[in-house]
Parts: sequence; C-alpha cells; structure tokens
Amino acid sequence: MKLPMILINFKTYLEALGENSVKLAKICKSVAEKYKINIAIAPESLDLSKVVSEVKIPVFAQHIDPIEKDGMHTGHILAENVKKIGASGTLINHSERRLELKEIEKCIEIAKKFGLVSVCCSESPEKSGVIAKFSPDFIAIEPPELIGTGIAVSTAKPEIITETIKKIHEVNSKVKVLCGAGITTGEDVRKALELGTVGILVASGVVKAENPEKILTEFAKVIKS
Ligand code: G3P
Repeated sequence: MKLPMILINFKTYLEALGENSVKLAKICKSVAEKYKINIAIAPESLDLSKVVSEVKIPVFAQHIDPIEKDGMHTGHILAENVKKIGASGTLINHSERRLELKEIEKCIEIAKKFGLVSVCCSESPEKSGVIAKFSPDFIAIEPPELIGTGIAVSTAKPEIITETIKKIHEVNSKVKVLCGAGITTGEDVRKALELGTVGILVASGVVKAENPEKILTEFAKVIKS
C-alpha cells in the first residue's frame, strides 16, 4: 500500500450509500490521480462490489467476521468473498463494530490468509500495544469520544498518537500507524504525519462535507507538500 494513505470510511452515511457511494468514490479517485497520492475507501458492505467495479483505487470492507469457512454463517461477512469481489483490504474492530480480542486476532489471521490488507482500529495506546502482537498491517488509533466531533485527535490529543506509536513499536516495529477521529482540515493531516503516523482514517470530515472534493484536495496538498 502506497504511503501516506488517506482511508475514507463511508460508514452508513446517506451521502455515501448506493449511487452516492459511486459518486464519492469517483471524486476520491480523481483527487488521488491528480495528486498521485493513495486515497483508499471503505464503502458500506452492500455497495462494496459495485464500488470495486467502478473505481481503480484501493477499496476496503468496513468489517469482516472471524469466520474462515463458507457455509452456515447467515448475516456474516466472509473475508474470502471480500477478496473475491476485488477489495484490497478490510477494517477490523472499528469503534462502531467492536470485536473481542480473540476475534480481532482471528480476523487479522484470516485477512492475511486471503491477502487482504488489515487496518485494525484501536481506542487507546494500551489496546494498540496488545493488538500489535497480532501483526496487522496497520493500527488506526481512534479515541471514540472524538469520532464525528470535528475535533481532531492529532490536534487536540497529540500525546495519544505519540504514546500509541511508542506502545506499538515496542512490540512490533513493522505495524504502521494511522490516526483517526475528528479529522477535518489539512492542518489536522499535517499534524498527524508530523507525529509519526503514515496517514489518516477519516469519515464525516469528507463524507459530510459540503464539498468533499475541496477538502480532499486540501488533504492531498498537505501530503504532497
Ligand atoms: O473510521 C473513521 C472514524 O471512525 C472517524 O470518524 O467522522 O471522526 O472522521 P470521523
């Protein structure tokens, strides 16, 4: 995965569902191409296949379940199928889709088995240190209290990011760190990179923006600077 990475979680925001998912994905693609940066997206599960077929930028699932075999798992998301439809990776343990530690470990293992890039979310430096033992490709630190607030973790609580990077790298120096929660401006992105992350995980700051292209361009310019 090219770094830095901007990973945009579409969540279940109406602005990014159904036909809107494709529209937003195309905006992300055009900014990624124009500035030659890595913008990846995580559409809602029902839109995943459609979005993958419409844009050639990395597409992530928002979640996979800790199940390995096909069959009797009604309502679950099978990593094998996520891979089959052409997605590049998956979020694991998002704050809005928490898993038990054992399940996180299993999901990371399954993601590796099927060649999906794993971005595992974590709510604290301590938890990040524990998750790092499972060797996900990325850990995204997201303090839950800042998610969706527009108050960026990188600006408001920089010590959480530095502490998280420290805890992760004490255990596993190969795990790359993203930060998320409340990122809304280019300055928030600059701060995140200065603190040692390799990118951001963002949702409302882009999806709910009046002009997503404008804010993505602001992010892209910071990455290129
Ligand atoms: O997955 C991204 C996330 O939870 C942060 O959300 O809206 O604060 O960018 P937001």
